[in-house]
Amino acid sequence: MKNFTDNKNRVTVRVPGTSANCGPGFDCLGVATTIYNYLDLTLIRANKVVVESSGEGADKIPRGKRNLTWLAIRRLLQEVGREDEFKGAIIRMKNNVPISRGLGSSSTAIVAGLTAANEILGSPLDKNGLLRLATELEGHPDNVAPAIFGGFTVSVMDNGAVQTFSFQPRIKLKLIVAVPDFELSTRLARKVLPKNVSMKDAIFNISRASMLIAALVEGREELLPLAFDDALHQPYRKKLVPGMSEVFEAAKSAGALGAAISGAGSCLIAFTSARARLEDKIAESMVEAFKLHGVNSKALILNVDKHGAQLIRNVELGIRN
Ligand code: HSE
Repeated sequence: MKNFTDNKNRVTVRVPGTSANCGPGFDCLGVATTIYNYLDLTLIRANKVVVESSGEGADKIPRGKRNLTWLAIRRLLQEVGREDEFKGAIIRMKNNVPISRGLGSSSTAIVAGLTAANEILGSPLDKNGLLRLATELEGHPDNVAPAIFGGFTVSVMDNGAVQTFSFQPRIKLKLIVAVPDFELSTRLARKVLPKNVSMKDAIFNISRASMLIAALVEGREELLPLAFDDALHQPYRKKLVPGMSEVFEAAKSAGALGAAISGAGSCLIAFTSARARLEDKIAESMVEAFKLHGVNSKALILNVDKHGAQLIRNVELGIRN
């Protein structure tokens, strides 16, 4: 391994797990959370990709050139015309974000590869450039945008081009994520959606998504209880997540401002204001409600990540040099 290592071509990045949709913002809203995946990347001249991973999903992550982080790195190298210079990589990952649960693990893999490689190459792309490539690789912007920018993000697609507004909410929120012990593929969760929706359901979501962003930007907590509901995707995905409605109800009864499927599931997420100090009670009630439907789950209590993908020092990762 040492032979391939060239320290000036090596960096470590930390990328937040994300929750897309936030209820009514299907395929356009997202929030970065304080659970992180780490990538220690070395770009090498040899035509070889070495992947080491530990933590969540370590045994499932593709090795070699099928690895998603490598595909992102290769895309960046092509974009900036450096693919002949760096033909391979040493990819070391330490993952905390559960995989195939709607917390943006594939986005972290893409954003980590792009951010780290961009840094090694002397930052030829800015964050919007990274967002463009990440969206192309992921297929939609709602997880990759908060993974890059942090905070909440609103993303608009226009003929393949993406524009993102990112902001820090003026309400200090706690995010309670119930992580069930089953995975859900995004492909399947998209397959159950209808091709067309009614005007009534469209208005239901537009009004709530708009209210959600306005309330978060202005710090109007009293407007939030109306703002997390959805009529465009959750009713159809309900059958894929046993106990979904009951977990939402349990979270709200325990004092949550609202609850939603995290991304395409299987996690469910509830939102509460930090000052209410209800997060433990909400977490307990969500796990309990899942259990009544035969689903084992664990709860994560997270904050909103403010920074998005960031460079860190290797030493923080505890990965050997
Ligand atoms: N907006 C996407 C969906 C997120 O709900 O299908 C998937 O990561």
